[in-house]
Amino acid sequence: MVYLMGIDVGTTGAKALLINEAGEVVASATVEYPMYTPQPQWAEQDPQDWWQATGESIGRVLAESEASTDQVVGVGLTGQMHGLVLLDKDGAVLRPCIMWNDQRTSSECAWITDKVGPKRVLQLTGNPVLPGFTAPKIAWVREHEPEVYEKATQVLLPKDYIRYRLTGEFATEVSGASGTSLFDVGRRRWSKEMLEALDIPAEWLPECHESPVVSGHISKTAAEATGLKAGTPVVGGGGDQAAQAVGSGITETGLVSVTVGTSGVVFASTDEFVVEPEGLLHAFCHAVPNKWHLMGVMLSAGGSFRWFRDTLGRMEKEIASLIGKDPYELLTKEAARAPVGSEGLIFLPYLTGERTPYPDPNARGVFMGLTLRHDKAHLGRSVLEGVAYGLRDSLELMKDLELEIRQIRASGGGARSALWRQILADVFDTELVVINVTEGAAYGAALLAGVGAGVYTDVAEACQQTVKVVQRTEPVKENAALYGEFYPVYRALYAALKPSFDQVSQIVTQHATGGTE
Ligand code: XUL
Repeated sequence: MVYLMGIDVGTTGAKALLINEAGEVVASATVEYPMYTPQPQWAEQDPQDWWQATGESIGRVLAESEASTDQVVGVGLTGQMHGLVLLDKDGAVLRPCIMWNDQRTSSECAWITDKVGPKRVLQLTGNPVLPGFTAPKIAWVREHEPEVYEKATQVLLPKDYIRYRLTGEFATEVSGASGTSLFDVGRRRWSKEMLEALDIPAEWLPECHESPVVSGHISKTAAEATGLKAGTPVVGGGGDQAAQAVGSGITETGLVSVTVGTSGVVFASTDEFVVEPEGLLHAFCHAVPNKWHLMGVMLSAGGSFRWFRDTLGRMEKEIASLIGKDPYELLTKEAARAPVGSEGLIFLPYLTGERTPYPDPNARGVFMGLTLRHDKAHLGRSVLEGVAYGLRDSLELMKDLELEIRQIRASGGGARSALWRQILADVFDTELVVINVTEGAAYGAALLAGVGAGVYTDVAEACQQTVKVVQRTEPVKENAALYGEFYPVYRALYAALKPSFDQVSQIVTQHATGGTE
């Protein structure tokens, strides 16, 4: 028996996962680390914390399993995307990582877009320059911390810093590189044009591989630190969303994944590099060689229902803890009492602004259509429905690009609820399935390691051998028809409310800063 390891350098912790070649999970361990917000809208982490947590989680997994390290034939890396790690000539970290959710770079984004031209940026990189992406962060350091910038010789993404510590190699892979605004996504290589326009030295960037390709081997020092065997191959791996999609078997057109975690992600594999004309969907290289992907990101999906639990569902939360049940079970049971469509109550899930299809930090949550008939069951159900409408927005953008959507694979905490699965299938009017894999991105990274190590011939075969559909939800015709009538109403609400969102944001900001104009 051989084993494969996936390592996920996530936002809240590092996870190590060991699977056997049949895809069964043998052991898994997560070690958490902090995130720092030295200023509002900033988000930073210490790469040393990642390394420590990675070492610890690998150690725990090896101790927990009966696998000998000789049997671990490959390691795959995944993790949070877009973050900037800067190293000096000795490989030392120059400043804390500026993370994917850091919002400090709006003016650098505007500068880059202006310099290169918005159309050209979209053509080359598949996406507009967003504040979370890597290039504007490099420009920010150049502008605000010239003493740091002067010493820089290497730019790495978070998981690639861990690769460096594991193998001594400076390397990345195409799916992660796609989120830097420095990558020619269509040609799957660093963009000379972007680098030259932004005056960023090309030699600062690591070598870029396809995701299943071996990028280095566990070094002697890393073997001592982690317990892995020196010489074990480490493959490129993937950005967290691409790796998660591999772990859900999304390797061909027609298959789409919908992940309902705190945020909601709609992910489709494409055979060609396709760009949404306004850049509303992310267009990145997939972790499957010669495939790309389109992705919509909703900021508060499961997060909306968590908010409902923590505010209007406080009583259920207390009862659940007394009787040893999951509060979500009680709340969805209650929501199921309300009829399909919540008798006209519509929820907009923009509790933390939105990303797809409205890149708008000022967008806000809304209950529209309240009447005396509505009670807590309706409120709960309308939250579940509003999230489903919001996810449908991304699917609609994909359909506009003539992308086939044959089957939707649901995962994440939200997919555990039978009611929510039915609502999603009805709102999408498409079959929704659940798969056997629940380990997310780390699982996909382990499969990519299996391809690199020769255990599987390619990514599609790795998925066929391991990822199985375990549950199916068919849309109910009448429900789908009713949701079909409500959806355009939902769709029109954002545009109608946009001026109010902006006004409210302005008033709130003025009062928060004590302004009086
Ligand atoms: C993808 C994205 C997130 C982060 C953190 O574009 O921003 O998936 O990688 O998980």
